Amino acid sequence: MRQQRVVLARVPHGAVAEDDLRLATGAAPGPDDVGEGQLLVRVLDLSVDPYLRGALVGRHLGSPAVPVGGLVPGRSVAEVVVPSAGHAAGNLVEVETGWQEWAVVDAAGAQPITVPEGVPPSAALGVLGMPGLAAYAAVTRLMALTPGDTVVVSAATGPVGSTAGQLARLAGCRAVAVVGGPEKARLATQHFGYAAAVDRLAPDWTDLLRAACPDGVDAYLDNAGGDVLRGVVAQLARGARVVLCGLMDQYNDGPPSTLPAGPLIGRRATVHGLVVYDHEDLRQRFTARIGKLLHDGRMRLLEERHTGLAAAPAAFDRLMRGANVGKVLVEVATRGGTA
Ligand SMILES: NC(=O)c1ccc[n+]([C@@H]2O[C@H](COP(=O)([O-])OP(=O)(O)OC[C@H]3O[C@@H](n4cnc5c(N)ncnc54)[C@H](OP(=O)(O)O)[C@@H]3O)[C@@H](O)[C@H]2O)c1
Repeated sequence: MRQQRVVLARVPHGAVAEDDLRLATGAAPGPDDVGEGQLLVRVLDLSVDPYLRGALVGRHLGSPAVPVGGLVPGRSVAEVVVPSAGHAAGNLVEVETGWQEWAVVDAAGAQPITVPEGVPPSAALGVLGMPGLAAYAAVTRLMALTPGDTVVVSAATGPVGSTAGQLARLAGCRAVAVVGGPEKARLATQHFGYAAAVDRLAPDWTDLLRAACPDGVDAYLDNAGGDVLRGVVAQLARGARVVLCGLMDQYNDGPPSTLPAGPLIGRRATVHGLVVYDHEDLRQRFTARIGKLLHDGRMRLLEERHTGLAAAPAAFDRLMRGANVGKVLVEVATRGGTA
């Protein structure tokens, strides 16, 4: 059987252009390719994430660069086709598969997916997965929130930002979104319940932020870097906590993001660098809490779904330009579907 895969066509410079990636066809793995302790899985939903920009060129937490012609990495919700201990055929797992239709994976690295009734399994790639855990660690561990605090979140409608904003609101804080464009500002307040939203693309966005945070910013989750980071830090309240989570501006080869020391000193601020993998100890509590909030309808998710593996490069391009609205997923196949 043949399968489609997405491979690196050339080393990207700046934002990844659609033709930096290319669709290739090759042999699909079959049962004979499955070794001891391995599974054959069929990719259902593929996760498209900002860290992949760094991963392609060897700038993500020490991972080696993807060679030209190499498979684009990425995690998926996948269906077990050839089982192994602990993973029955037909079960869903969250696992590193890369951007392809079928994969042989180590069973030990596959996480069984259990989502509450009414929640899609794809949530395991977003609000109930790595992005959600990053937000949970930021809000419940690093921000040291007190009810009534003003909490600003950038990239506020994405899976990290929207989880953080909703958790801050549920903790009794005033959550303020920084987003790209009026449509996302509307979503931030109407869908995710932020108290206010500021459009970072508006020329006077720092004035709008001041109006939205008249007593200053007590806690800030930065997913943006660049001018957004500097603009929010200039408005910190005394004793503020800043959590550095993402560098969207810099990933696309923008200039290195810098922090202005003056306001940090003057406001006696604390800055935390966040790497989600350091907070695995929170996972059980995180899964239980977010699962319950989703089930009870007290937390909402938003997905941007694309259909077919061939759509993945364009979906990634949208994400890295900030044009995505919600967690970016590519639906590669449907559960129980035929090859
Ligand atoms: N540190 C960690 O362990 C960790 C873990 C997970 C994710 N992250 C980071 O968290 C951030 C959010 O991730 P996510 O998965 O939730 O993605 P996302 O929010 O769905 O997408 C990224 C968003 O960044 C915003 N953005 C801000 N400045 C931008 C710029 N200069 N160019 C392009 N986009 C810009 C855009 O939203 P607006 O247009 O609304 O601003 C865009 O939609 C990313 O930086 C990611 O790398 C870090």
